[in-house]
Amino acid sequence: MRRNIILDCDPGIDDAVALAIAAAHREELKLLAITTVAGNQTIDRVTNNALKLVNFLGIKDVPVARGSAAPLIREVIPAEDVRGSTGLGDCLLPETGKAPASEQGVVFLADTILKLPQGETVTLVPTGPLTNIALLLKVFPQVKKRIDLICLMGGAAVGGNVTATGEFNIWQDPEAAQIVFHSGIPIVMCGLDVTNYCGFTETQIREMLENPNPVVHAYGEMTDFYLRSRPYCRGSIAAIHDAVTVTWLMHPEWFRGREMQVEVDCSEGQNRGMTVCDFREWAQPEKRSGVTVLLEADTEKIQKFWLEALYSYQN
Ligand code: RIB
Ligand code: CA
Repeated sequence: MRRNIILDCDPGIDDAVALAIAAAHREELKLLAITTVAGNQTIDRVTNNALKLVNFLGIKDVPVARGSAAPLIREVIPAEDVRGSTGLGDCLLPETGKAPASEQGVVFLADTILKLPQGETVTLVPTGPLTNIALLLKVFPQVKKRIDLICLMGGAAVGGNVTATGEFNIWQDPEAAQIVFHSGIPIVMCGLDVTNYCGFTETQIREMLENPNPVVHAYGEMTDFYLRSRPYCRGSIAAIHDAVTVTWLMHPEWFRGREMQVEVDCSEGQNRGMTVCDFREWAQPEKRSGVTVLLEADTEKIQKFWLEALYSYQN
């Protein structure tokens, strides 16, 4: 059954990989729109990156709408040091000269959802800070009955990347995340517990770099940046966090997760943005927030699936 999806993202190298995988599987995922949010880079840069990616991947029919330039309350702090000055590492994609379909991403999200044919629903796939999604649900609550699932990259049952307990997307806008996690819409949380272990090896990245196909080579350039960025340790894999979302939508059988209560730490302390996952099954079952936290993944099958998707652009 073909699933309607909307990608809300901050491209971002791993956002770009998620988009390429979704675009390679349009018979399974109908990408209705892309909305952008400041995160990896400023809103101008991530929006321009999204416009360049849809052009480069040959999916020009997918509209791109510019979303929130900053979190609900806090200042935006771009992750420049780990995504590069453009947000796509050292990869320079052709400029399109095009403007976004809308400068009001949240309104565009609501319009796109509310004009779905009767009986159809949409899955939201946020892979950046949750600012747009929180605003959408607060300003246009009538969209909730048309959203069947939110499959997001963010958080962690254990650990963090920006801090010991904060994962970047949640840490950037904790208040937005708390709104989304308590929206009552079913959520799959693709957190660092699985995304840290899903990615490409140095050899696989080098092989993409040496490939003459423009798309494969470009994704080699993008992911090669990870090999030189701080969180990467030689011999490990370069984690491609965001691509786990669209992978779960097509192959949930490759993952194991548990439904549990998730609270977001909205303090300014050392645990800012921590997703507090309650594993105590006996605790307050009535408070179940409908969040399925992914805990294990078949990383080999996922990696093979991703490489097949990227190399399919050679055909
Ligand atoms: O923590 C990883 C997440 O932060 C990914 O979505 C990456 O693109 C950045 O947005
Ligand atoms: Ca992202």
